[in-house]
Amino acid sequence: MSRTRKKRIAISTGGGDAPGLNAVIRAVCRASYRRGWEVLGIEDGFAGLFDLSKTRMLRERDIADIVSRGGTILGTTNRGNPFEWPVVQDGKTVPVDRSDEAVRNWRKLGCDALVAVGGDGTLKIAWQLSKKRNGIPFVGVPKTIDNDLLATDITFGFDTAVNTARDCIDKLHSTAQSHDRIMIVEVMGRHAGWIALSSGVAGGSDVILIPEIPFSMQIVCDHLKKVCRQRSYAIVTVAEGAVPTGGEESTVGPREVGREVRLGGIAFHLERHLQIGTGVECRSLVLGHLQRGGPPTTFDRILGTRFGAAAVRLIDSGDFGKMVCLRTPQVLAVPVEKAIAKRKTVPPDWDMMVSARDIGICFGD
Ligand code: F6P
Repeated sequence: MSRTRKKRIAISTGGGDAPGLNAVIRAVCRASYRRGWEVLGIEDGFAGLFDLSKTRMLRERDIADIVSRGGTILGTTNRGNPFEWPVVQDGKTVPVDRSDEAVRNWRKLGCDALVAVGGDGTLKIAWQLSKKRNGIPFVGVPKTIDNDLLATDITFGFDTAVNTARDCIDKLHSTAQSHDRIMIVEVMGRHAGWIALSSGVAGGSDVILIPEIPFSMQIVCDHLKKVCRQRSYAIVTVAEGAVPTGGEESTVGPREVGREVRLGGIAFHLERHLQIGTGVECRSLVLGHLQRGGPPTTFDRILGTRFGAAAVRLIDSGDFGKMVCLRTPQVLAVPVEKAIAKRKTVPPDWDMMVSARDIGICFGD
């Protein structure tokens, strides 16, 4: 009697963690088990391909109770680009291309396909690895709290991040009102204003500053003075990538090899300038990684589950190089090139922007 080899797929999660990753992992595993396949988890994104002790079979007991947990049971990193691996040479960190080794190691795993869960960085690396000789067949699952991936209405993780940010903004109203202050809250999002816009509108902010619209300090101050005359306090939500007209993004430290520059600190800059410009006492805070933590919302659990199961269906039909995406109300698939071509930013003429302006929110322009 001839024995056919069991189909085996791998899954890895790359880039910054996002709530809903575990829902994707669970769905990929369950949909695979139903087909009689095995699932190998690769830890720490593509970095796991350089240390095969970081791979392990995922079984039902590993995934049974993870849908409600934030983070990723597989771990992740935003330093693991095989094409730009940081290596110290003569005391200097330089990028080294280790992609051939990554593909060679992949072959040793005996897997038929990879589910790459990540944002634009991870999906671009997966696509590049698939294009190499004997490259890695993959399907992508769009993840990022920033929601800045093209070709999908929304990425999982975004809804949880917005809910966390909105909850914090809600809480700032009472302390701002008690002290007659302007509270400035900085949210994540890199070069896109999705988190700031959504949490700012839902949290009742008076000013929302997003990277897509350079802001004038004078216009922001004039608006805040008007608001404070009416009700004595105000709330500003600012995206970490927001820029004053003619100015630059606020960054933290120098850019590291193989990584994007870290953004942050615009809230402190605003605190100084708005206090002088309005004469009202200001306080600022940076929400930071709180937005990436905690249990995923119901929406993100469902979206992660739909994405994970759809990714397995793509593999089942041999449809590689695609990314699952939400085209409301359907989960569909698109060539991954469409998602990584450029960043998805907030269209300034989008109806949500128009409505926000209609209800008196100032964008600093
Ligand atoms: O891309 C997700 C994100 O949380 C961004 O919003 C933020 O700029 C960045 O990652 C922070 O990355 P790190 O975890 O390396 O500080």
